[in-house]
Amino acid sequence: MRMYDLITKKKQGEELSSQEIAFMVEGYTKGEIPDYQMSAMCMAICFKGMSHRETADLTQCMAQSGAQVDLSPLGGLTVDKHSTGGVGDKTTLVAEPMAAACGLTVAKMSGRGLGFTGGTIDKLESIPGFRTDLSQQEFFNVVKQAGIAVVGQSADLAPADKKMYALRDVTATVDSIPLIASSIMSKKLAAGASVIELDVKCGSGAFMQDRDQAELLAKTMVEIGCRNGRDTSAWITNMDQPLGYAIGNSIEVNEAIETLQGNGPEDLKELCVCLCAGAFSTAKNIPLDVARERALQVLNDGSALQKFRQMVAAQGGDLEWVDHPEKREKAAVCLEVKAPADGYITHMDTAAVGVASMLTGAGRETKESTIDPLAGILLIKKTGDFAAAGETIAKVYASDTAKAQAGGNKLLSAISWGDKPAPHIPLILGHITAE
Ligand code: URA
Repeated sequence: MRMYDLITKKKQGEELSSQEIAFMVEGYTKGEIPDYQMSAMCMAICFKGMSHRETADLTQCMAQSGAQVDLSPLGGLTVDKHSTGGVGDKTTLVAEPMAAACGLTVAKMSGRGLGFTGGTIDKLESIPGFRTDLSQQEFFNVVKQAGIAVVGQSADLAPADKKMYALRDVTATVDSIPLIASSIMSKKLAAGASVIELDVKCGSGAFMQDRDQAELLAKTMVEIGCRNGRDTSAWITNMDQPLGYAIGNSIEVNEAIETLQGNGPEDLKELCVCLCAGAFSTAKNIPLDVARERALQVLNDGSALQKFRQMVAAQGGDLEWVDHPEKREKAAVCLEVKAPADGYITHMDTAAVGVASMLTGAGRETKESTIDPLAGILLIKKTGDFAAAGETIAKVYASDTAKAQAGGNKLLSAISWGDKPAPHIPLILGHITAE
């Protein structure tokens, strides 16, 4: 078999066989197929697409290219969740303890932030003492003890994806549904959970700006999961403004804890209820409305908060920090951003809000940048809200005034104003289950 012939075949729009896909992924992972041939293949896939069968095969080969976590010693149904990324998305910190409180086993591997905001691991590490670098045995022990653990993704998971993603990033071949879907799902398959709940975002702060594309991506990932024997479902959700009010690391954990205490923002609570209910309904094969009632119950009766506390304690985190917000360290500088004139916020360029939070120090500008856990932006007003001239619309936290000002200026430039409220955009746009 020759890679040249496979590129030609895909260029002509033909379907690659399972053996051909395995040859390509194995050869590329071992370094036998050079970057330039794989780039040509990725470009051909961008133009000609892949069938569901090809996409599922590609995902499986990438998942099998490195370590595969066997969660069977934990017994029962193991749940994982993935969000395609957004600004202010702290749902893992709320929805996963809820799932654990519903009786599901949550053994989750998460990433650090790749774009302008921190990832779940960065957020959790803002809790003093919280360890995310557990060995497999420690990881399993925490899950057995607390019913939930969230740890950093092991470096040897899906190495084929790591190589291909780096290549796609520099060859303008990221935006292909089969390539995105196989990339995300290869890591989910390798991480071993039997139930996978997906949150596919669309809007100005999302990877997928367009709703139809988001729906196609969600359907493709659900199909891949199900073809590989994982119970998979997906929500399509709006990312045309940040989720909740907090964007940063420590301040997002704070908002997540408030939500678990029953005091969080409505949009965050609603999405977490959907994610937990979706996983519970899929795992137990029960109607979504029944699962939703259970999700609300564990949030309202405090059992999800207890699961979160158990996880923090089992992973070495400081429970005093969790229970006493008044004792937490604050950023050195807090700058108030004021409304320039009377008006309604009609739109937030959410990607730009993400950049604003990065400028405060809450995200990474380059892979090597270190995150300031105390930095970030706390919105006071969001789309649809009225603000009078000079009224505070956000607080910007940073380690120095220059960073706070850079974040504040970027935030102001991301906001559009009008003299009438903008039409309300629903948060939950769709739910995709296996056909
Ligand atoms: N996230 C991934 O993990 N892979 C992609 O291709 C895009 C987003």
